[in-house]
Amino acid sequence: MIKIHLMENQKKKIVVLTGAGISAESGLGTFRDSDGLWEKHNLSKVATIDAWHKNPALVLSFYEQRRQQILNVEPNEAHHALVRLEEIFDVSIVTQNIDNLHERAGSKDILHLHGLITQGRSVLSDENPFSISAPIRLGDVTAEGHQIRPHIVWFGEEVPKMTDAEQLISACDFLIVIGTSLKVYPAAGLIHSCSVHAKKILVDPGTFNFPESDIQHIQGKASEKVPELVNSLLKQQNHIL
Ligand code: OAD
Repeated sequence: MIKIHLMENQKKKIVVLTGAGISAESGLGTFRDSDGLWEKHNLSKVATIDAWHKNPALVLSFYEQRRQQILNVEPNEAHHALVRLEEIFDVSIVTQNIDNLHERAGSKDILHLHGLITQGRSVLSDENPFSISAPIRLGDVTAEGHQIRPHIVWFGEEVPKMTDAEQLISACDFLIVIGTSLKVYPAAGLIHSCSVHAKKILVDPGTFNFPESDIQHIQGKASEKVPELVNSLLKQQNHIL
């Protein structure tokens, strides 16, 4: 059982760090599981800044497929359960996912570390992304005349929201990590940004070897284990963690 200490009138801060696994049961493939996206596509040819410079049409086509995919999927029980946490806790989602399933489930505070596929931006700046509802094409430009690209952080680029994510996690009482292989840095390093007092839980069906095992691993699928965890946290609100 998970025990949290809740001071009277004080909302505990929960940060939820999510990866592709939380969207797997919505029908979006993960990256590194067998049959994952990086088995079907060559990462270096579609998801790097070099790829954009060498073959932008291929990169645009790859991300347009991702955009089309999310139009046809829905948030699952795990996305929905996280919204219920907000009844009691101060919740922030930090997601590596470029889908918008947390938004569509109704979570309020969401930080997209690796960008958002429903947005585009100028090639010159990662600030001021805007919603897109049609494929981006070569020759599509901003009002200032700069080529538009997907609002995605590619391998070889800085992760502009890292500092914000680190600040959120360093101030949390409870970190819930869901559906990520923790193989991609700097995002994977975020689990070490917690204070020593924070409780850490990972929900994932995979196997992990944490050197300093301060993370409790709940092994299983997000759609089953996340609602159970959320129910447990909501029930114990007065004397938990
Ligand atoms: P990965 O594909 O590396 O890992 C997916 C994780 O989801 C694995 O640990 C699986 O065990 C787990 N998983 C699979 N099915 C699940 C389910 N039903 N419920 C819960 N977990 C499940 O994906 P990420 O760790 O998200 O970056 O990948 C991180 C980054 O690598 C992505 O953001 C993307 C990618 O390349 C960029 O493109 C910049």
